[in-house]
Amino acid sequence: MRPAVPPVDIGLDECNGTIPERYSTIRSPFFMDDLAFRNLGHQLVDILAAYLEKLPDEPVYRPLPAAVQKELATMTIPAEGMVPEDVIAGFLRLVLPYGRGQNHPCFAAFVDPAASKLSMLAAFAAAVTNTSGAGGSYAAIYVEQAVIRWLAEIVGFPADGTDGVLLGGGSDANRHCLEVARYWGAKVNGWDVRTEGLHGHPQLTMYMSEEGHSCLEKAAFTLGLGAPRKIRVDDDFRMNVDDLEAAIVADRRAGGRPFLVAANAGSVKTGAIDPLDDLAELCQQEHLWLHVDGAYGGFGVLDPRAAPLYAGLERADSLALDPHKWLSVAIGCSCALVRDGALLQDTYKLIPSYLSLPPGQGFAGDVWYSHRSAEQTRDSGRALKTFWNMQQAGKAGLVDHVRRHIDLARYLEQVIEATPDLQLLASGPLTAVCFRYVPAGETGDERLNRLNQAIAADLQVEGRAFLAGTDIRGRFGLRSCALHYDLDERHVREIAHAVRDAGHRRVGATPLKEGAHQRATALGSAAALPEITPIPAGADLPAAAAVPATAAHTSRTARPASAASAALTEETTCPS
Ligand SMILES: Cc1ncc(COP(=O)(O)O)c(C=O)c1O
Repeated sequence: MRPAVPPVDIGLDECNGTIPERYSTIRSPFFMDDLAFRNLGHQLVDILAAYLEKLPDEPVYRPLPAAVQKELATMTIPAEGMVPEDVIAGFLRLVLPYGRGQNHPCFAAFVDPAASKLSMLAAFAAAVTNTSGAGGSYAAIYVEQAVIRWLAEIVGFPADGTDGVLLGGGSDANRHCLEVARYWGAKVNGWDVRTEGLHGHPQLTMYMSEEGHSCLEKAAFTLGLGAPRKIRVDDDFRMNVDDLEAAIVADRRAGGRPFLVAANAGSVKTGAIDPLDDLAELCQQEHLWLHVDGAYGGFGVLDPRAAPLYAGLERADSLALDPHKWLSVAIGCSCALVRDGALLQDTYKLIPSYLSLPPGQGFAGDVWYSHRSAEQTRDSGRALKTFWNMQQAGKAGLVDHVRRHIDLARYLEQVIEATPDLQLLASGPLTAVCFRYVPAGETGDERLNRLNQAIAADLQVEGRAFLAGTDIRGRFGLRSCALHYDLDERHVREIAHAVRDAGHRRVGATPLKEGAHQRATALGSAAALPEITPIPAGADLPAAAAVPATAAHTSRTARPASAASAALTEETTCPS
């Protein structure tokens, strides 16, 4: 045993006036003792669990009262600190009741599903460990590696060579993939974008479907690529490969440098899946990078009935996926997958002296996600949330989860078809269903657009169901993309009923007052509507298809004009 080293009096134990206070006696403003943490944690979990329990019977969305907005907008930093109980009380009073509603089963707007309860707990557990996902020899890094490997397996990317990184959202993952594509595109055109940038070099041209998500365009212009070339879609909203080929040829003739095609595996409006195999073929032939935006629809490949539509996905050079969408992971987690994984590090890796560690020593480890992204300190909770969700569901559970939503989207279409005054506008192979309210006798698209925009706004403040809308070839459609993990046929009927009732109210010229929550209790009040008929296993799914304007529309317009539709003509409260 080594002898204890005698303390050396260096004459600083009274601080000699170099620091004004004895910090050993002063508590940090962030101090909380262990028992208080335990008690507060238990209380908060109890309150939040009760909130989740009641949620399905509450309005989906509750408009933010002006007083709450004002209080938050004018709040100043408290001069003196508050006790944690008061901080939490403020959250319970001002924030919790006025969320966006996306944990509610009848929230069907955008692609914003509920978070699973386990992923909520994972977010908390990750915050407790407070581990940066930068890299090194610790477990969180290998959790992220496992998640990326599992995601790659689901979409058929090769186990050897594929690499990826988890990021905050689909927009981020798409931009990330495009950054790698740009690095590659410059390289094959003879320069190094890391050292030379884009100045003085030929314009690299990117192609995307006209139905592609806006984040692809944002990525293009923030990456200095300029506006992407938009390629027309066919009747099923899928990128037209002949048009793409013609554009590439024309651009090459004009001296451009085509380098990237960004395709959809689930377009945001209708869930269309571009002809990925044909695109992969063309990209191979033209030596272009094929990127696929699977942020919304990538996981649809799990449903064996839909899988054939994804043929070619496994040939993509990069793919954006969003576990915080269809995998019910709490916001935010996305994944950028790159088939030639070395390019990911070629694009980002940079190790300054202050981050350099001797390889294989200390905690250096051999996997660094900060070498695969622009981030240094990284949220390791993304990986943990997804890891836990994928473990809870297992492969079979993930398949069931995706099937449930695809079945229920087809059911919503049946309900729409069977409901007077509702008209299907576009039907895709996944979960997005676009429809509108068409009162008897009304034929004018412009008036119907205004009416349905007003219905969308009414629905949102009413609280029964929450839908957003989109343009379907010049017609405004309410778009349902209901992806709650517990979604069932009652919620689907409620969504359809809420739209029909809101439409009736509008044409009856009795617009809902803001904040008037008129939740009809009857989730199950569907007497006149059909029962669910899930698509049988093995059945072929149709590709996305626009509902022919004339056929669907005439069935609605054959009825005589009513007083209600006459009232619509007078409608003045619709936003234009
Ligand atoms: C097809 C598609 N791509 C990208 C995104 C953007 O993803 P995020 O909202 O996670 O940034 C979305 C969002 O709905 C989407 O539907």
